[in-house]
Amino acid sequence: MNFPKQVKINEVGPRDGLQNEAVMVPAEAKVEWINMLSETGVPYIELSSFVHPDWIPQLKDATEVARHIKRNPAVTYAALVPNRKGLERALEVDVDEICLFLSSSETHNKKNINKSIKDTYPVLQEVSQDAKSAGKKVRGYVSTVFGCPYEGDIPIDNVISVCERLFSMGVDELSIGDTIGVADPAQVENVLIRLFDYFPKEKLAMHFHNTRGTALANVLMALSYGITNFDSSVGGLGGCPYAKGASGNLATDDLLYMLDRMGVRTGIDIDKIIQSSLYIEQYVSNLSSHQMKVINRTR
Ligand code: HMG
Ligand code: MG
Repeated sequence: MNFPKQVKINEVGPRDGLQNEAVMVPAEAKVEWINMLSETGVPYIELSSFVHPDWIPQLKDATEVARHIKRNPAVTYAALVPNRKGLERALEVDVDEICLFLSSSETHNKKNINKSIKDTYPVLQEVSQDAKSAGKKVRGYVSTVFGCPYEGDIPIDNVISVCERLFSMGVDELSIGDTIGVADPAQVENVLIRLFDYFPKEKLAMHFHNTRGTALANVLMALSYGITNFDSSVGGLGGCPYAKGASGNLATDDLLYMLDRMGVRTGIDIDKIIQSSLYIEQYVSNLSSHQMKVINRTR
């Protein structure tokens, strides 16, 4: 197979990783963790979410975290923003990149952001426009592309229509989400073939959760189709509290192990990523990365 020689990895642990945790990680620990991640060579860190604090209490300290981290100029610090209020909060602390999010499932969208898909568009349109005027890069997330806990399979035409709307708002790239970790490589191939009819592969990232252990296999399929942009979370932390059954993201540690051995460059130091996993493991108990299990057995 022909694989890309270099890929970009987006570390989403401080946001997607912590938003589904039962424990509240103290803000100082998040700051320390993000500072460690900032020195690993990872080019992008999602530091938190400017969503409603009652909806995601785990990330209610987003402002404090964003204010106290030591920023590495080589890193893009991004955050999730659901609406105008979220954008105001994110701009106040000068987040580099704004991430909009929307589901391709009507039911999940309603449960996650309390609006129909149609009613979400004008809200995101305004946020995207204002974020651009403020000089920010804008990323879009499309959730439940490979299956929804409430609606089951989502027709690919619905996914394409949501992606088209987000691109028409000027988003710079779209992250295609397997929110509950149901995708398999054959489905990834089918979805990518359809998406490539409409969107350039350079503008697509893949966001796999690993609920059923298929995330690395899905990455391999996406790599073979020339995708070079992947989201992952240190230790395999993560999930969406408003998508029943969602569990850990693809672990950054496992992804790096595979890519390093395949000779695909990421610019990230795997030993430093493992150190950052060991750090956050003091605060959360269920790291699911296979690399971490090996490390913990030999410690
Ligand atoms: P709502 O209750 O419909 O909000 O929630 P509203 O617009 O009706 O406003 C109600 C009150 O909330 C108002 O205050 C607003 O100011 C305030 P009041 O006037 O009553 O005093 N408010 C806010 N406060 C702080 N920050 C804000 C904000 N917005 C409104 N941003 C809302 C709608 C979108 C806010 C809520 O549903 C929400 O926060 N949802 C977030 C859920 C979430 O974060 N889910 C996880 C992320 S998505 C994900 O994980 C998937 C992904 O990883 C990809 C994948 O895996 O597929 C990205
Ligand atoms: Mg996610």
